Amino acid sequence: MNGDAITVSKLEKRFGSFRAVKGIDFTVGRGEIYGFLGANGAGKSTTIKMLCGLLEPSGGTALVAGVDVAKDPEGVKRRIGYMCQKFSLYEDLTAAENVDFFGGIYGMTPARLTARRDEVFALLELTERRNTFAGDLPRGFQQRLALACAIVHEPDIIFLDEPTAGVDPIQRRAFWDLIYSFSAAGTTIFVTTHFLDEAEFCHRISFIADGEIVAEDTPAGLKKLLAAWRLYEVQAADPASLLPAVRAIPAVRSAALFGDTLHVMADAGTDPGSLFGTVKGVTAVEPVPPTLEDVFLHIAGKKG
Ligand SMILES: Nc1ncnc2c1ncn2[C@@H]1O[C@H](COP(=O)(O)OP(=O)(O)OP(=O)(O)O)[C@@H](O)[C@H]1O
Ligand SMILES: [Mg+2]
Repeated sequence: MNGDAITVSKLEKRFGSFRAVKGIDFTVGRGEIYGFLGANGAGKSTTIKMLCGLLEPSGGTALVAGVDVAKDPEGVKRRIGYMCQKFSLYEDLTAAENVDFFGGIYGMTPARLTARRDEVFALLELTERRNTFAGDLPRGFQQRLALACAIVHEPDIIFLDEPTAGVDPIQRRAFWDLIYSFSAAGTTIFVTTHFLDEAEFCHRISFIADGEIVAEDTPAGLKKLLAAWRLYEVQAADPASLLPAVRAIPAVRSAALFGDTLHVMADAGTDPGSLFGTVKGVTAVEPVPPTLEDVFLHIAGKKG
């Protein structure tokens, strides 16, 4: 496979008169971890299904592993792995039987399937659970089993639709370690998530809102969008009660509760001492680096 792993141009999906995906453009390089971030209903799953040859685009083009998804959806399916947002395992089959089932769909020979299943189970630490029914596995194991089913045929590109929903932080971290190892081995990863801390793990991210990509960059590049502002963490005994007074300061762009502090976005170049001088009850002010959450709230706020 030469060139980019995924090339999307003016890709659109309409359901009746409703435009769920409004002519989006992006490319994903080989081995890249590309994060697709957006609120509920933004169009993430609709996009992923079009890229996986599962949903016919209403317009535009998408090349995945060099294959046009509209012209050859079956060809796309053979080259990619897809972990869908909904629970996709057969609960009354064992872990091993689930993998065998998916491998069979991909037309793997029994000998290759057996060898590859052992390999994938070792990699994903599922070997000891191979004979457990999928429905009886803890959530973190179910998610890894779903991943095993998606990669058994050694695809060049893996599509993951909210793979870590409902999984605890330790399992999430372990999952991301796996994603990194796949990427390092040259596999391309396209992943949707709601978790902004997870988005930080991606090489590049796009924010999708109401079917449109409103920002796309590296995590560090996205944070530069906030360069004209300075983020402060403000401490007080009762931070919520200070919100009206803080928001009334002319140089303040936004203020929100953040744990037991306030996160306040103000024009850069203002002196924090004088900035909050008129607000009674402030005990400490500290400039802090913005997180992707701050960026996301800023972009979402600009969209209204
Ligand atoms: N088959 C369909 N028919 C009509 N509308 C649909 C269909 N599938 C999705 N939609 C609508 O398209 C929009 C985008 O849905 P999509 O599932 O892509 O969002 P999402 O970003 O994946 O959201 P979530 O984070 O909740 O998974 C939503 O308004 C949804 O209701
Ligand atoms: Mg979705």
